[in-house]
Amino acid sequence: MTGSYPATRLRRPRSAAWSRALHRETVLTPSDLIWPLFVTEGQGVEEPIATLPGVSRWSLDGIAARAKEAVALGIPCLALFPNTPANLRSDDGAEALNPDNLMCRAIKAIRDACGSDIGVLTDVALDPYTSHGQDGLIDGAGYVLNDDTVAVLVDQAVNQAEAGADIIAPSDMMDGRIRAIRMALELGGHHNVQIMSYAAKYASAFYGPFRDAVGSRGLLKGDKKTYQMDPANGEEALREVALDLAEGADSVMVKPGLPYLDIARRVRERFEVPVFAYQVSGEYAMIEAAVAAGAGERDALVLETLMAFKRAGCAGVLTYHAPLAARLLNA
Ligand code: PBG
Repeated sequence: MTGSYPATRLRRPRSAAWSRALHRETVLTPSDLIWPLFVTEGQGVEEPIATLPGVSRWSLDGIAARAKEAVALGIPCLALFPNTPANLRSDDGAEALNPDNLMCRAIKAIRDACGSDIGVLTDVALDPYTSHGQDGLIDGAGYVLNDDTVAVLVDQAVNQAEAGADIIAPSDMMDGRIRAIRMALELGGHHNVQIMSYAAKYASAFYGPFRDAVGSRGLLKGDKKTYQMDPANGEEALREVALDLAEGADSVMVKPGLPYLDIARRVRERFEVPVFAYQVSGEYAMIEAAVAAGAGERDALVLETLMAFKRAGCAGVLTYHAPLAARLLNA
């Protein structure tokens, strides 16, 4: 109920910092954050990513150090993405199934460094491993084949689970892959390995810097519109989420983040499940570009955007600003 002025003055509770704190509806803490990290071969290697200023690819020793940093900051989970060496990329992305691939070694390096003090989320899709940069197997015309791809993704997911992944996050948008992966995980005894489905993932122009980071941008011909969603669609996102939940997803993701905040909200209202948002590489780059141009102040932009996800009902956010945000929130 809202009364009328002057009995009701909404500025009254805003008049002091303690009161604003008391009336705050939403909280953002480091435990709301998932930190995406890019892994590369070598030892002592840090490779800055030009289109993602402030973010680097790290070799395994660096990944272990970042994991320790995350634990110290109170960040509960890391998301891993490999920059597969060019000579290991192939038409069929077979390197994704190698138990000794970069991703699997990174999982183990984190486990060695931090034990079970931090969760490890691994991306399931073939784009970091294919010579054509698509997320799945393609036919002669370049069309990504659904069922053939799902069969490979199942093996990729099991490979990651065997290496110690805690959350399998299929980002490929193939139909039916959640059920197939869940069944394989159950059969393999991985009952407690979760699935966070990239349920509503859009064919977005905001993924450019990420594709630089995993080395797939130059390889990719065309787009991903035959499997990722049309940005015009909202109802369809709810169907995607419903299917993935029915197939066994423990949580769902909406991606990109801010441009699709309405989708995150609708999913949260329709389904009583944890909803995560991915503030993607292009969103990070936009904030950094604004800061570089003097158009805004980094700390405030970062915290405001992350709070927006919480206010919209998200359980958490994948963001490249995770360590900065955690430091600010811990201060
Ligand atoms: C791969 C994948 C992508 C992202 C996460 N997993 C890129 C794509 O679908 O082309 C994007 C993340 C980002 O831009 O930060 N399937």
